[in-house]
Amino acid sequence: MQNERFAGKTALITGGTSGMGLATARRLLDEGARVVVTGRDQGRLDAAVKDLDGGDRVLAVRADAASLADLDALMAEIRTRFGRLDVVFANAGVGAFASAADVTEDDFDRITGVNFKGVFFTVQKALPLLDDGAAIVINASWTLHRGLPVAAVYSATKAAVHNLARTLAAELGPRGIRVNSVSPGFIDTPMFRGAAPTDEEAAAYGAQVVSGRLGTAEDVAAAVAFLASPDAGYVNGQDLLVDGGLVTAIPA
Ligand SMILES: NC(=O)c1ccc[n+]([C@@H]2O[C@H](COP(=O)([O-])OP(=O)(O)OC[C@H]3O[C@@H](n4cnc5c(N)ncnc54)[C@H](OP(=O)(O)O)[C@@H]3O)[C@@H](O)[C@H]2O)c1
Repeated sequence: MQNERFAGKTALITGGTSGMGLATARRLLDEGARVVVTGRDQGRLDAAVKDLDGGDRVLAVRADAASLADLDALMAEIRTRFGRLDVVFANAGVGAFASAADVTEDDFDRITGVNFKGVFFTVQKALPLLDDGAAIVINASWTLHRGLPVAAVYSATKAAVHNLARTLAAELGPRGIRVNSVSPGFIDTPMFRGAAPTDEEAAAYGAQVVSGRLGTAEDVAAAVAFLASPDAGYVNGQDLLVDGGLVTAIPA
């Protein structure tokens, strides 16, 4: 057991069955939290519950972040089971990459539906459950800081949600609720492996990073836990890059 910054707290992690969401659920659970994880696939939810092995401190709910009806049902289930929320990690996101010339209306709607609309309504629907002093962290991306070919729509959704963090920090400040975003770099998750399936391709991405390696889901989980904890009590409206220096420096 690590130190118990989240003892007695309840955290919602959307997209908590894989990658950074699952690693964050594990980290917060290890630090004493009750965790609610969501995803669209029941098999992956069942596997996450088994993997987390947190007994009655883990609740898994099938909910599509792009569906307002699912979000309403999710919040109702959290209210019944835990009564309130102290942490929201709006993490669920999809990566779909095509040059701007080739993006279809369906692509546009699907990506914005999860990454922007889904994040906005996850936070909106969670508001009545949030205690004063709660923390919201939104998963953005390094691509909001630096142009990536084939990522026009994806990157714009990430810029949108960081902007959302700033506005929500202002709106929710009077309730003592802090809102920040985290911007991962190249993180070795199933989503990343979709873009870099072979170890050679993955290593080539790692070589572009000043720290000389890909990030891990646990690297990001540690940063999310910091932003969600009292250790970040005076950090508000920020975007925290967790990218090994990808955006700010060129490898020697
Ligand atoms: N990996 C990277 O290099 C990287 C870099 C920067 C930012 N990010 C961002 O980090 C976040 C997490 O990515 P990851 O790499 O950890 O991805 P991942 O391993 O593919 O996990 C994505 C998670 O989100 C869930 N999910 C997807 N669509 C959903 C929806 N509509 N509603 C609810 N859950 C949904 C997935 O479960 P189901 O499919 O079963 O629903 C899964 O649990 C995303 O927002 C991504 O944009 C990733």
